Amino acid sequence: MNHASLPCLTLGVCDYPEHVEATQWQIHAQQQKALGLAFVRIGEFSWQKIEPQSGKFDWQWLDDAIDIYQQAGLKVVLGTPTATPPAWLVESYPEILAVDENNQVKKFGSRRHYDHASPIYRKECQRIVTAMATRYGKHPSVAGWQTDNELGHEGTAQSYSATSVIGFQQWLENKYSSLDALNASWGTVFWSQTYSSWSQISSPNLTAVRQANPSQVLDFKRYCSDMIIDFQQLQIDIIRALSPERFITHNFVIFASEFDLYKASKNLDFVAWDSYPIGMLEYFATWESEEIKTRYARTGHPDLVSLNHDIYRGLKGGTDFWVMEQQCGHANWAQYNPLPADGAVKLWTAQAWAHGAQSVIYFRWRASHMAQEIMHSGLRQQDGRADRGHKEVSELSTQMYPLVPIKAKIAILHDYESMWIYDQQPHNLKLSYWAQFYQFYSIVRRLGLDVDIIHPLDLTKNTYSLVIAPALTLVSDEVAKVLKATAKTTKMMFGPRTAFRTESGLVPKDGQFSAIAEMVGIKLANFDSLRPTLTQEIVPFDKVDENQYQAKLWCESYELITAKALYHYSEGPMSGKAAVTELDKVMVVGALSQQLISTLVKQCCVELEITTEELAEGVRLSHRGDHCLVQNFNQHTVEFVGHSIPAVSSIIK
Ligand code: GAL
Repeated sequence: MNHASLPCLTLGVCDYPEHVEATQWQIHAQQQKALGLAFVRIGEFSWQKIEPQSGKFDWQWLDDAIDIYQQAGLKVVLGTPTATPPAWLVESYPEILAVDENNQVKKFGSRRHYDHASPIYRKECQRIVTAMATRYGKHPSVAGWQTDNELGHEGTAQSYSATSVIGFQQWLENKYSSLDALNASWGTVFWSQTYSSWSQISSPNLTAVRQANPSQVLDFKRYCSDMIIDFQQLQIDIIRALSPERFITHNFVIFASEFDLYKASKNLDFVAWDSYPIGMLEYFATWESEEIKTRYARTGHPDLVSLNHDIYRGLKGGTDFWVMEQQCGHANWAQYNPLPADGAVKLWTAQAWAHGAQSVIYFRWRASHMAQEIMHSGLRQQDGRADRGHKEVSELSTQMYPLVPIKAKIAILHDYESMWIYDQQPHNLKLSYWAQFYQFYSIVRRLGLDVDIIHPLDLTKNTYSLVIAPALTLVSDEVAKVLKATAKTTKMMFGPRTAFRTESGLVPKDGQFSAIAEMVGIKLANFDSLRPTLTQEIVPFDKVDENQYQAKLWCESYELITAKALYHYSEGPMSGKAAVTELDKVMVVGALSQQLISTLVKQCCVELEITTEELAEGVRLSHRGDHCLVQNFNQHTVEFVGHSIPAVSSIIK
């Protein structure tokens, strides 16, 4: 593929020629080229412009726009326009509309209002994608394709429509074959939920009490995930046939959580995601304090951004990815949308490269003077003047960013099914899968360490010195097998709630850890959900470490079978019981204590001869090949081993 041969980071921009007069196109394309951009992504919401009436296509404007980019020397990434079914289509087939959790039909007038499971909508998508790929599949300026736009975003992964419910029933029948098997897997004897026919089973919304059966929700999420993946695959198949030489990617959203992204990425050439560091902190990081939100209000938090980069790099086993939308000014969708600090666009671009980005595409070229995104910025303002981000992009030198490999010694395990089951019963208002996962990730990043985030099954290619599983709650037999094999050769650290749920979301009959019992050598004694005003003291078992640690929000205590205790609780209902255990290469950490986890990671690194740093707040290191990127996310200069790094800037060591 041509994307793999690019030697240095490339840049581009999302452009919407249909939002401005055609007289502007040439000017824009020339300005984009002059700015050093290589790519424009276009078309992803343009169904109505391409096909104003059913079966009546207007290609002229898109032909002209693509020709103009070509003349300017820009390559095009074409989005399939399926995130925005036009009004005429919805009028003809209202049944393609998605239904929300309250059983309300999502009306036309925004975007992503369709149901992935709808056979009619799928056919319509195949039709428009075929038409587009036939016309542009071999166009010399078209470098590749983006399927749809941000699948599952804005609460659209699940639809509770009649189509979806019928599809769910069929999906369950395929999976379980018998109702007895389903009833056993879901534990339906509880509260008389037992089903005696497939048609009795519905989607798990609007249940009369507080929540639906978690095993049912887990399967519904799996079903909806499969619907999204199938929906995308229909497009991939068409593009592959009609545009075989071009790449296919998809732009995943920040912390995309509602479908299995490992599976959704499998047939893409590479992964892309949309990075909005400021909105990410304000809107997605619900666990962060006001103090942190204020401190990083104009840069975003370094670890939140890196975590997303590392996830997306890991989806296809550690390959380069694209940032398909990079914030380059203020956004419009978070609770607050401050201007980025001076230098932030350069900072984010360098960070993306250091974590494996091959291309960074800014969102968007010219701010919109119409409709929903009037309050969003672009590289240029509504009247065409260059905005602050434009100036920063003009100062970037992409030659500094060669596309060399990243070699992390630490892997962090992540999987969507653990998240889906964890988040149904977090048992603590302040906890979620991501909150727990992020705590471990951020601790490792604060020590200057690079991380690969991978699916547990990808451990079969294990080359790591240390493997950390912060929140691996659901452990299937297959995953258990891989974990056991890994533990024979590799140091491993597990966080709370490990192996607490079976594949169908139940607690194993022999209790937590039974899937990996011999490997950990412990049993759960109790778990303790702490309100934010409670803390729990932890002390070392053998007094080697003189410190005392405070756990917050979650503690688990363990009974020792063959493992030894490293730390135990020194007060409260679990006093004297083990909080951290070790057996051979396997450590289990049952308490969420920032300082304690940091100490344990450092101890592991000493043992494994991995060098750590004590980084100051807001300073982070990332390594790509032999390059070490030092970044300062603070609004003041910092000193780092003889280098003075100005506010909001990076150096390469
Ligand atoms: C993204 C989306 C874009 C635009 C952008 C605004 O989530 O893909 O189309 O809406 O947000 O920040």
